[in-house]
Amino acid sequence: MYSKAVVVFCVCACALAAAGPRVNRVEPLTKPCFSKCPELNVRAFKDPTPVVSPRDDLTKPINERYPSAVLFGRTCGGTIIGDKWILSAAHCSLFTSGRDILAGTNNTEDGTGIRRRVKKLYVHPRFSVGPYWLNADSYGIKQVAARWDFLLAELEEPLELDGKILAAAPIDDIAEHQGGETVGFAGFGAEQHGDVMRPDEHAMDLEVLPNSSCSKLIEFDPQDMLCATGRPPRYDTACNGDSGSGLISDSGSVIGVASWVENDAFECKNGAIIYFSRVSAARDWIKQITGI
Ligand SMILES: *[C@@H]1O[C@H](CO)[C@@H](O)[C@H](O)[C@H]1NC(C)=O
Ligand SMILES: *[C@@H]1O[C@H](CO)[C@@H](O)[C@H](O)[C@H]1NC(C)=O
Repeated sequence: MYSKAVVVFCVCACALAAAGPRVNRVEPLTKPCFSKCPELNVRAFKDPTPVVSPRDDLTKPINERYPSAVLFGRTCGGTIIGDKWILSAAHCSLFTSGRDILAGTNNTEDGTGIRRRVKKLYVHPRFSVGPYWLNADSYGIKQVAARWDFLLAELEEPLELDGKILAAAPIDDIAEHQGGETVGFAGFGAEQHGDVMRPDEHAMDLEVLPNSSCSKLIEFDPQDMLCATGRPPRYDTACNGDSGSGLISDSGSVIGVASWVENDAFECKNGAIIYFSRVSAARDWIKQITGI
């Protein structure tokens, strides 16, 4: 990436220099600079933040890129935020029969990973959904949405966090997320609407959308939600069973909890916008319950 940028710049610099003396700042070049470029020009193109997020290190297995991601119950995801605490979506308490979590693995069926039983669930006091969540069809509703969709699960026994395959994600307390920010998401949800959970963990890169684009759906309220969408060429989206999984920022903190998807009642179409509960909105409540 870096060397490519340098070559491109050099080619441009040569072209500009050849165009005549009107271009200042670019030192006159006596020879084309395809192989050796002036230090000055190279510096001008250096990326000021060359840090690669651990989430983006594709040489690592998904569970090491997302060491805070867990399977919550049998049909949801969640995020480790402390050795005894998992953050998930409140609506998962309506559907998931399980009272346990599976952490530190990228496969839910091969016996790997660490299981912990849940001692107690805490639903956000402002959580609400309509009755249509259970049967959107009979209400003739296409779009389902939840408000304040946060759940905290306290574990019976603490997880031994090693920071590599088991880690707690810092909790985001910044409400301001500009459109365009790259974020990531990992879970075990279905590939297609109505399918069962996938045993293999999958991850996707998403882009946060500005509030104004999220409000394309009237159910959106920036107070407790943020939205993101898949990037080309895959235009990934979330699907049934990805609910509760964390939206992870470059710094590794959890900024959202997967709550609902555009046209949720019918499909998980590529490119569909995913709506997350905005973690910063529940910051005080999380602190109050967990002390974290
Ligand atoms: C799953 O985890 C195992 C053990 O950490 C690793 O060897 C494997 O490459 C991982 N698979 C994927 C698809 O990430
Ligand atoms: C989106 O709305 C939330 C809640 O009102 C606000 O805190 C945040 O700053 C807004 N984001 C942007 C990028 O304007």
